[in-house]
Amino acid sequence: MTEYKEHGCRFKVDVIKTYFSPRLSTERSRMTKLITDHEIITNMFGGVATFSILIAKKNPTCKVYNIDSNPHANELALINAGLNKVQDRVFPICGDAREVINDQLRGSSTRVLMPLPEKAKEFVDSAVLALKGKGVIHYFAHVKARSKKLAIDEAAIDTNHAFVKYKHRIDAMRVVRAVGPRIYQVVSDVCVIV
Ligand SMILES: C[S@@+](CC[C@H](N)C(=O)[O-])C[C@H]1O[C@@H](n2cnc3c(N)ncnc32)[C@H](O)[C@@H]1O
Repeated sequence: MTEYKEHGCRFKVDVIKTYFSPRLSTERSRMTKLITDHEIITNMFGGVATFSILIAKKNPTCKVYNIDSNPHANELALINAGLNKVQDRVFPICGDAREVINDQLRGSSTRVLMPLPEKAKEFVDSAVLALKGKGVIHYFAHVKARSKKLAIDEAAIDTNHAFVKYKHRIDAMRVVRAVGPRIYQVVSDVCVIV
């Protein structure tokens, strides 16, 4: 177990038992700046709660549900929420995101984070189910492309396909990082009207 510091927050991380990447720091910073007062946010794949805690720390009027199916990540999310004194507004929930939303968080949120690029497409219906009326879904995907610029074009096609059933608009897109030769992680900020 080690401690990692980012943007004034402290995180206990265990790279053997849980996912953790310092390379998402710029994306976490971008995300915290998008949040407006009194938002209710569902982080479907929250891990040790890095995104969730940074958001809650910068925006004290927000509530964040941090879901993760890995019990070790959930335990560290609870510890990290306490370490950063946001335990009154970051709520770790251990379980499958699809089941947790279906059972507890339908129509609860203004914003949903989907930081599981390999599988996010399978969870789009659950993300939309979590929204209360119009809201924003941060959809992470891996795309194959010959350049960063072409990665955005590919990701736009992929995102529009993933949300084809829903009235939606892509407000912004960003290449988060290269994850392999000609493979990029891209995040799309998708406004969905439920
Ligand atoms: C790529 S990691 C992102 C973690 C965190 N958001 C971060 O940036 O550090 C994806 C996380 O999703 C969790 N996960 C995978 N499938 C899941 C599911 N069906 N429901 C909830 N969490 C899941 C994994 O345990 C892992 O912690």
